[in-house]
Amino acid sequence: MSKDKVQIFDTTLRDGEQVPGCKLDAEQKLEIAERLDDLGVDILEAGFPRSSPGDFNSVVEISKLVKNATVCGLTRAVEKDIEVAAEALTHAKKPRIHTGIGTSDSHIKYKFNSNRDAIIERAIAAVRYAKTFVEDVEFYAEDAGRTDNEFLAKVCEAVIKAGATVLNIPDTTGYCLPEEYGAKMKYLKENVTGVHKAVLSCHCHNDLGLATANSIAGVVNGARQIECTINGIGERAGNTSLEEVVMIMRQHPGLGLDTNINSKLLYSTSQMVSQKMGVMVQSNKAIVGANAFAHSSGIHQDGVIKNRETYEIIDPADVGVNESSIVLTARSGRAALAYRAKIVGYELTKLQLDTVYNEFLKFADIKKEVLDTDIHDIISATDVAIEKIG
Ligand code: KIV
Ligand code: ZN
Repeated sequence: MSKDKVQIFDTTLRDGEQVPGCKLDAEQKLEIAERLDDLGVDILEAGFPRSSPGDFNSVVEISKLVKNATVCGLTRAVEKDIEVAAEALTHAKKPRIHTGIGTSDSHIKYKFNSNRDAIIERAIAAVRYAKTFVEDVEFYAEDAGRTDNEFLAKVCEAVIKAGATVLNIPDTTGYCLPEEYGAKMKYLKENVTGVHKAVLSCHCHNDLGLATANSIAGVVNGARQIECTINGIGERAGNTSLEEVVMIMRQHPGLGLDTNINSKLLYSTSQMVSQKMGVMVQSNKAIVGANAFAHSSGIHQDGVIKNRETYEIIDPADVGVNESSIVLTARSGRAALAYRAKIVGYELTKLQLDTVYNEFLKFADIKKEVLDTDIHDIISATDVAIEKIG
């Protein structure tokens, strides 16, 4: 079955970099941009050029460097922002301006002290102006997650008429439920005149831990772009995690959706971003966490040793992790101990294993994790003579 392509719009260097204390220097940004291009992201949001001279220069240098991806610069619906972004993107092979404005009643009233009609006018003007510089213009309706669908459809229709090529529907505050976000995309697909002329895009924040689920609900309901970051980093609780949405589509062929991402580079890219930003990846993080392919309970270890697929839905090699690990703890069983003992050079008979296992449990109750080097000490502590093989 041929699959529909979902464009991956990476915003690690823009929304991701908004994490407090994670500012990257120009060189670090370039290294990450090069890696994202190799990873196969379709669009790379390089920064918000008007926000600072540093961001402007990064967008310029990234535009020169990137070979394959579209390079995108963020703006507000403000002429000067758009001019500065266009200038920063001059060297990009495929430039995109990402402009927009808040559309929820809360943003209209409190941020802009304005009204719906005036907001639509500003949205149209921003897209038209951006179109005078580049062909590819993405419009974001900030806080679309809390914007009433009828008004949102009106905004979308107006900006498509003005030339927008992509419609970003951000759940800026991470408020939506997956069903609700999916229904929003479906509503726009069915009610916006001219919607076929633009790509609908998901941009979900993780305040309730639903960013990934919401993005998937979005593409199931017709969106064809997901905005995401490596390790899900970003404002507050973060953005949609790139590695999660990519692997969900790959592991569920029934969705009929796929991306251009080379998944074998996911783990190393995650490590690279974590090290450069100084943000640890939580050990139980899906796909790229240290424990994502580690098994420590006896029942699971026994299953994985017999056949990896009993407790693993992803082959670690597919995301660039060398192998699953069998971690020895006090919860481990004989199968895991025999397995690791063999790796370090001991082929234990059933009788020997019983004796060594009793010694192992005493040791494991004291130490949280039993390492390969500890296995020699455990075996020496027993009164049975066990020859090392190899
Ligand atoms: O979350 C959001 O609404 C954004 C926009 C600026 C695209 O990041
Ligand atoms: Zn955002």
